[in-house]
Amino acid sequence: MAIDQKVIDKLRKEPGMPDIDLSWLREEDSPGIVAKAGKRGLTLDEINKGVYGEVPEIAKHGTTRSRGSIPRAGVMRTAYFVPEKSDIWADNATLIYEEAVQRQWSSATDIPWETVKPLPDIVEEAICQICTFLTEVEFIAGDAPGQWLKKISPDHYEVALYLISQVMDEARHLDVFRKRALVNGCGLLEAQGATRGLRNVLDSQDFTEMSALMHVLAEGFVQTMFRTGEFIAQNEAEKTIFRLCAQDESRHVGFGVMHLRYVLEHTPERREEIHHYLDRAEQLFGHPTDGGNTGLQEALLITMSGDGKDLDKGAELALALNKKQANEYMHRLEVAGLGDRRERMNPAFGMLLDPPKN
Ligand SMILES: [Fe+2]
Ligand SMILES: [Fe+2]
Repeated sequence: MAIDQKVIDKLRKEPGMPDIDLSWLREEDSPGIVAKAGKRGLTLDEINKGVYGEVPEIAKHGTTRSRGSIPRAGVMRTAYFVPEKSDIWADNATLIYEEAVQRQWSSATDIPWETVKPLPDIVEEAICQICTFLTEVEFIAGDAPGQWLKKISPDHYEVALYLISQVMDEARHLDVFRKRALVNGCGLLEAQGATRGLRNVLDSQDFTEMSALMHVLAEGFVQTMFRTGEFIAQNEAEKTIFRLCAQDESRHVGFGVMHLRYVLEHTPERREEIHHYLDRAEQLFGHPTDGGNTGLQEALLITMSGDGKDLDKGAELALALNKKQANEYMHRLEVAGLGDRRERMNPAFGMLLDPPKN
């Protein structure tokens, strides 16, 4: 877009006009890129062209300056960002963010709540115990990435947008499970507390540690549970809740796998450090010594039994779920490039693994 010099001169000399500076009109410094919508619309990938798409390996400024804009002297710093791209990046962040925006749903209007009918007391209470656990888990799932938002530089804005979308997803998960607990007369039951495994996620001092513990391990286990929600659900409303939440969790898990992969590819010296985080997390997360999960396990067994009577069937399905969780966790690690985790996985999970596929 050309700026007519005559217009600028006229503006500057116009009688009655306040003194205008117009020094920000620096067309010569602009790369002059015209972004065009692609097959999926005007996505972030479509505007990340030329200098706007050049993601610095190190974010050198601590200001709110948007990547590609023209620097200005004297600007105040606002944060101590994580400077290294390899510490926070995932190549699929833009794709996942766009999908998250397109696939938002409403717990108020997209769930067929009218299909929730009176259930045997023990089944209703088991569902409500699961919902009580999940409202706490989803709160933490929003809180943990939220702690990192202010540490993401505008130079790496794609990751910030992804994290914001995850916080919104988790807010919806929290509210939908709370609504289910309150919609059929039972309400919230016993609080589980953050449990040692989830407290460990919140205590992460490093972004990759947080992501491996939360996205790859904890949310992966939750995603597998949601994807087998048809065995837990007693009606269409619950099936819809699990299906929509699983769809969202796929994005969170997908970010974590791709972030871990990026870290291992670009900073392979971190491999042992990451194993160390997972050694500790596997000991704490979902381990039989983590007593806070007892209510969840028993509630799953009851709901999976169907009517609360055939507990053998419930136990069989719960074991199948645990196996699926362990195997899908191992698969994610392989995709991320951490397949050697199989040899040092906590036996509580390792004993559930199928033999490796060669
Ligand atoms: Fe969630
Ligand atoms: Fe999640």
